[in-house]
Amino acid sequence: MASSRIKHNKQLLLYIFLCRVLMISWGLDQGSFTITGPPRGWNSYDAFSWIITEDEFLANAQIMADKLKSSGYEYVVVDFLWYRRVAPEASFTSPGFDLIDEWGRPVPDPARWPSTAGGKGFAPIATKVHAMGLKFGIHVMRGISTAAVSNNTPILGANGGPEGGPWTAQDIALTSRPCSWMPECFVSVNTSSKGGKAFINSLYQQYASWGVDFVKHDCVFGEDDLSLDEITTVSEAIVNTGRPMVYSLSPGVLATPSMGKLVDNLVDMYRATGDDWDTWNDLESHFDVARDFAAAGLIGVPRLQGSQSWPNLDMLPLGRLTNPGSKQGPHRSTRLTPDEQKTQITLWAMARSPLMYGGDLRDIDQATLSLITNTVILDINSKSFGNAEIVQGSSIEAVPVLSLISCEQATDTKWVIRNAESAGANDYLCWSVPEVINRAGELAHCLDWTVSSKPSISLNKKRRATEVGEHFSQTGFLHLWSASGGSMCLDSLHDPQRVAPNFDKITTKLFSSCSNQGSQIWKLTSEGQLESTSNSGVCVAIDAQVNTARIWAARGIEGQYYVAFFNLGLEASNMSTSLDKLIRSQNLAHGRGLSASTAAPSCTGKDVWSNQTMVGIPNGILSAIVPSHGCKLYSLTCVSN
Ligand SMILES: *[C@@H]1O[C@H](CO)[C@@H](O)[C@H](O)[C@H]1NC(C)=O
Ligand SMILES: *[C@@H]1O[C@H](CO)[C@@H](O)[C@H](O)[C@H]1NC(C)=O
Ligand SMILES: *[C@@H]1O[C@H](CO)[C@@H](O)[C@H](O)[C@H]1NC(C)=O
Repeated sequence: MASSRIKHNKQLLLYIFLCRVLMISWGLDQGSFTITGPPRGWNSYDAFSWIITEDEFLANAQIMADKLKSSGYEYVVVDFLWYRRVAPEASFTSPGFDLIDEWGRPVPDPARWPSTAGGKGFAPIATKVHAMGLKFGIHVMRGISTAAVSNNTPILGANGGPEGGPWTAQDIALTSRPCSWMPECFVSVNTSSKGGKAFINSLYQQYASWGVDFVKHDCVFGEDDLSLDEITTVSEAIVNTGRPMVYSLSPGVLATPSMGKLVDNLVDMYRATGDDWDTWNDLESHFDVARDFAAAGLIGVPRLQGSQSWPNLDMLPLGRLTNPGSKQGPHRSTRLTPDEQKTQITLWAMARSPLMYGGDLRDIDQATLSLITNTVILDINSKSFGNAEIVQGSSIEAVPVLSLISCEQATDTKWVIRNAESAGANDYLCWSVPEVINRAGELAHCLDWTVSSKPSISLNKKRRATEVGEHFSQTGFLHLWSASGGSMCLDSLHDPQRVAPNFDKITTKLFSSCSNQGSQIWKLTSEGQLESTSNSGVCVAIDAQVNTARIWAARGIEGQYYVAFFNLGLEASNMSTSLDKLIRSQNLAHGRGLSASTAAPSCTGKDVWSNQTMVGIPNGILSAIVPSHGCKLYSLTCVSN
């Protein structure tokens, strides 16, 4: 039953997809097809954590209506725990403060949301938001609250429960499946049972009756929390209400493209990352994720409902903010530099992420407002296609390096011995950080000491590290042995600080014939460092050599080529790309634009952030000095020569 339905859905999807391709290409010729892009709006979490009040919320909504609605920002969303009393002992993980109705459904805390008192729920707030010409959204958690479970409230619309009477909260609660990051407050419900389905339906009927237009559903997606049963049930419950609602998923931790593929027809948007705050590390970590979701074809996948689904990179933590989980409102400014802020909005545009502003709009300044209302940024975000990080020659290949450095500097590499998978095999020598992608594109964690014709050591997922296990288990010390080209061992007599050549090209430089010399014997310390036993302070490290030069490209529906240079490095860098190659790769992948021709294209365009017109691009090489953590964005129009 389930599988035949899935097949049917796939056919329908393919049909819708083909229609869209036709419509988009028609639109390119006629210039009259408008695509509804990813949702835009404001969310209360980054500035107010969970403690926002009605006044603060409506003040932000009014400013959005005044300053941002004309740029397509339309959803105002109350983030989590609107039903929790802000008592002195209450925190974002504390049970016992949540307000529910007689059917076990959360209701807004009237101390913070006075208009909602008397059983009116969020209806009066939604009415005010709608009167501003905006749409109203709420955050909800997984399953059922433990407040309902401990009160064993009845389920609305579900008679004939297991005990003969109505179904109750305890009949449907799966206490063995709590939300991993708020386990005391929310648990899953059994969506296979009549009572469980009825409960979910009763929640969404209520949200629809309040006038909710957007639901951000948390703790059901991503590693640790994925609950496909509940996501499916909620997706159906929303359709059953007859009210259009954006269905958005938020994970506790990381999600993967394969998880995206499980939900892309069930939801409108889903978080591809953990929470994004205003640090460079958070922002930098979005580059690989955005690249991978784009490469998996997940941007704007058509849904059966006729809408599309969007991988979401999270809110924009700009302007005035608070801290995660804090009970204090906005009290500090974003820590992102102006260059980093530009980088963030540019990546969010190129990856077509939903744009949800996170700062307190009451304090938005002109610079921030210009960033999030830049018309080219918004065009790319709502109607570009072919969006991808592009491979630039050899620069994309991040080749890890094995090095000998001082132990004080080597703390970024943590080594571990992994047990062999089968008896008789040797254990592996692996590291737990940093994460390294090998040339085959796999996550590599372990050293591979396999015999090969060339003197080499390579990185592998879990190949045997010959000798390590045996020797280590007897003595607690290890040789780092390369079996190739005779027995060679890593020798700490080489200069520390001198970085070895690439793994692929490791020659005998760091290696000497194996012996029992102390300089070849390494000790795994309790801190996970591999320290030389004879040269104290010399350690073995892995330098992941992250590729810091990232280039994204996309097409506009009027034939433009968009190109973004991002410099993730610590120094300004001269970045460049050949327009010829760029255009060919885009046309090859997306079949439109300039016809294949042997002549180099000639392009004119605009440097978007400096607002400068570019007349001609010398030698067909687009290049720029890009500041550290900064970006360049171009909108180009090209013709064949
Ligand atoms: C969920 O409900 C179904 C139908 O009532 C039942 O067969 C199943 O055992 C329940 N699952 C759990 C985990 O309780
Ligand atoms: C940057 O690199 C490009 C391409 O290699 C080169 O043409 C250009 O002169 C360089 N720019 C600067 C300022 O060095
Ligand atoms: C960009 O430059 C054009 C003229 O080339 C000007 O009309 C426009 O107002 C400028 N935009 C901004 C945001 O400065």
